Amino acid sequence: MSATISDTELKARHAGMWASGDYPSMVETFLLPLGPRLVAACGIGPGMRVLDVAAGTGNASIPAAEAGAEVTASDLTPELLDAGRARAEAAGLALDWAVADAEHLPFEDATFDVVISSIGAMFAPFHQAVADELVRVCRPGGTIGLLSWTPEGMIGALFRTMGPFAPPPPPGAQPPPLWGSEAHVRELFGDRVASLELIRRSYVERSPGDPAAYCEFFKQTFGPIVALRTQLVNEPERLAALDRDFLAFATRANEAPPDRPAEYRYEYLLVVARR
Ligand SMILES: C[S@@+](CC[C@H](N)C(=O)[O-])C[C@H]1O[C@@H](n2cnc3c(N)ncnc32)[C@H](O)[C@@H]1O
Repeated sequence: MSATISDTELKARHAGMWASGDYPSMVETFLLPLGPRLVAACGIGPGMRVLDVAAGTGNASIPAAEAGAEVTASDLTPELLDAGRARAEAAGLALDWAVADAEHLPFEDATFDVVISSIGAMFAPFHQAVADELVRVCRPGGTIGLLSWTPEGMIGALFRTMGPFAPPPPPGAQPPPLWGSEAHVRELFGDRVASLELIRRSYVERSPGDPAAYCEFFKQTFGPIVALRTQLVNEPERLAALDRDFLAFATRANEAPPDRPAEYRYEYLLVVARR
């Protein structure tokens, strides 16, 4: 990626990446436990004004609305918001859906009682800008709740597997799983939050098949992998090396015996801050 790329162009690329594949199907397969956990950890209840940042298809926004909150679900990728809106309508829930970059939220200061993000804001490249925006739109005394993959966990290892094949990130960009590091989160929020609770958790999900089937599922559904493989289409040797490294990673990370469907442990950091 060129060092001179504009922010608008960078974010358009990111939105295109997340719209590729089939993220709604990935959420349904093994990410659904996350949204309700974040909503419960933040004590979201009736009448609260909640902003979900990088909400995708509403994995956290929809349970927040089910809990009786007034929810705005925001995300960079309109296609995912459309899928979320359809899910919410099918459940008879009314939410606001807004296209928004986590680094430049289009909301006034102190608008929300609770600001949440489930494995979402971590994907915006400039972490301090995101942290500043989360604090800014949360009212004094309100709650900021985040759930992020850890660097040491399975998804952190997946990003390290992809890294050598990816184009260099723009100057100053930081890797997503850093948001799963306690020290990094403390530094980002500094003394602008009154309290900061940091808890590591994990859960195990059975995959649709063996490690090879797991890799195929990611190649079909997970935007960052779909986009990376598309970029490598004219470099067949590097593409083959990526696929090989990905399968080796999925084989190593499998916690189930060889004759059973693969099982993977997803570790995340749950952050609950009071402003
Ligand atoms: C792994 S998905 C998580 C979606 C949802 N929160 C969930 O729990 O399923 C990551 C999301 O981050 C969004 N995203 C990436 N960069 C963003 C940015 N700069 N601002 C807002 N959203 C962003 C993507 O569009 C995508 O919906």
